[in-house]
Amino acid sequence: MKKVLLLMALIIAVLAFTACADTPAAPVAPAVTEDVAEPPAEEPAEETPADVVETNDEEAEPAAPSALQMDRIVLGTNAGFPPFEFIADAGQGRFGQYSGIDIAIGMRIAERLGAELVIHDAEFAGLIMELNAGTIDFIAAAMTIRPDRKEHVHFSTPYFTAMQYIVVPYADTTITSVEDLAGARIGVQLGTTGEFFVQDYVDYEDLLSYSLIAQGFMEMRRGGLDAIVVDSVVAMMFVNQHPDELRIIRDNDAFASEHYGIAVRHEDTDLLAVINEVLEEMLSGGEIDALFGYYSERLNQAE
Ligand code: ARG
Repeated sequence: MKKVLLLMALIIAVLAFTACADTPAAPVAPAVTEDVAEPPAEEPAEETPADVVETNDEEAEPAAPSALQMDRIVLGTNAGFPPFEFIADAGQGRFGQYSGIDIAIGMRIAERLGAELVIHDAEFAGLIMELNAGTIDFIAAAMTIRPDRKEHVHFSTPYFTAMQYIVVPYADTTITSVEDLAGARIGVQLGTTGEFFVQDYVDYEDLLSYSLIAQGFMEMRRGGLDAIVVDSVVAMMFVNQHPDELRIIRDNDAFASEHYGIAVRHEDTDLLAVINEVLEEMLSGGEIDALFGYYSERLNQAE
């Protein structure tokens, strides 16, 4: 637990934790206290449900002639990836039942366009297809910018840096690096960089690809998996909820850093420009860091 907390403290320190999630926060000097539980100077605004929440919108609307004239915009995501997107406890979501850093970014984008935001929660592996089919207008899903994905979508400016972590059952002593994954029964999320890595570099015994990574963590806690490979921050979120059962293994030599981007259709250059503008404001204003700090505290319940 201590290790995990330290880890979290480190990341937060690096990210220069700022004050408040919902209002643009002034950047804080990089000298940050190591106290993870330090409360924001000001309470972040309540996460109030929006008046209208539509989910899994039935019919794809024809693409708007210009992104800037959209009166509604559909954010595609996979809401099982805290702190980026997840379903909050009843009545607690930032937008309807949805919460997370990507949801907050999506709300800013919609606000900037004067468009109504609609959230379409779907299978991660299908998001790029849905974008190009017109079911959704942009993807905000902790999606790693990759050359193969760029063939199908345009990515925004990177807004978050991550890497893959290995999660093992707490009592395991056999897995200390990627090399030790040989012969293991490994869980990943379908269509993610964790899955691609294991497929390409690991001589596994079994590879189980789940629709939601939470299913993998459940299976591991039941004793059915030797390891899970998943994005760093998400690994920390789940491990912090079960610190006596799960443990993180890092292998900085094996895993490269990954950068998350918002994705749009190739032709939607106007929309991409708006998204980049919003992201640059949120990054330079410290808002992304603040959101990260906010969720790190709140999702890290185990002490
Ligand atoms: N960053 C990884 C990828 O792009 C995993 C993202 C999974 N996101 C999600 N919302 N489930 O492949």
